[in-house]
Amino acid sequence: MSETFPTRESSRSTTGGDTAAASTRQADAEGVAGGVGLTALLVAAARAIETHRHDSLAQDVYAEHFVRAAPACADWPVRIGQVPEGDDNPLWGRFARYFGLRTRVLDDFVLGSVLDGFRQVVLLGAGLDTRAFRLDLPSDCVVFEIDRAGVLAFKHQVLTDLSAAPRVKRVPVPVDLRADWVTALTSTGFDPAVPTVWLAEGLLFYLPSAAETYLIDAVDRLTTGGGALAFEAKLEKDLLAYRDSAIYTATREQIGIDLLDLFDLGPRPDSAAHLTAKGWSTSKRTPFDFTRRHGRGPLPEPNDALEGNRWVFARKPGP
Ligand SMILES: C[S@@+](CC[C@H](N)C(=O)[O-])C[C@H]1O[C@@H](n2cnc3c(N)ncnc32)[C@H](O)[C@@H]1O
Repeated sequence: MSETFPTRESSRSTTGGDTAAASTRQADAEGVAGGVGLTALLVAAARAIETHRHDSLAQDVYAEHFVRAAPACADWPVRIGQVPEGDDNPLWGRFARYFGLRTRVLDDFVLGSVLDGFRQVVLLGAGLDTRAFRLDLPSDCVVFEIDRAGVLAFKHQVLTDLSAAPRVKRVPVPVDLRADWVTALTSTGFDPAVPTVWLAEGLLFYLPSAAETYLIDAVDRLTTGGGALAFEAKLEKDLLAYRDSAIYTATREQIGIDLLDLFDLGPRPDSAAHLTAKGWSTSKRTPFDFTRRHGRGPLPEPNDALEGNRWVFARKPGP
């Protein structure tokens, strides 16, 4: 399969090639200690809190172990009872519940896809996702986890220390999604002819627009046997307009993660339309649709950083 992928030079308009490559190496060395890698721990902490709720939407018994193992988040809560304002805290209340709801919805999406016969799962920007360990997947299923090497190394260490065993074959693929990840994936045994479910959960808005377009094209090309893709998009034209929203402010002030600094703020491609043009059927939902369906989760509020969030579900028929 011949590849044209956005080089770091072409995908980062404001940085020179050597500088961009050096900053990628530096980000990778950080693992989960900082930069975008730390956002994987934010989601893990949210999943830990969700797991311990009496009305939990999703269960991840590994999540709190990641939080406890990382010096960067030694003082983060893993239960809502450890947060003085409880659910009134915009970060550990509403935002964490958002991640809990997203986990549940995408768990259901993966489980529904394997019921339909899909046997490969590819987690793009897998972070500390433990679906290979906790979902009841068929034994002949393979889960590929793509993230940067430093993040996957931290994950491996924590899971090894817990003697955790995946329920199915699990293949970590350490690679930067701004580089040629297709070669990395296909060289680990991924088979485009096997019906595949792809997840890009909390990922695309960190990537430069060219890398997102490349990713969507690649998912289409690598789905020759039929497949499904779920991804999260943000529709806001100007994300900075939400800088003072409760969620972004709390995340910045309480744990020092400035999400708007990590997001790629350039114009985004319309990936749902792109997939439709390639013959996929797509549906776009708001998170609030699922809050209503499950009877719990975030609801709209004024100056809402979640207002433009959409969860897109796409299907490509098999041959
Ligand atoms: C918010 S976390 C979400 C992790 C996981 N999908 C989840 O929902 O728990 C974003 C993840 O995307 C990964 N990521 C961001 N940019 C990336 C890139 N250029 N290449 C590979 N992974 C990347 C980060 O390392 C991080 O693990």
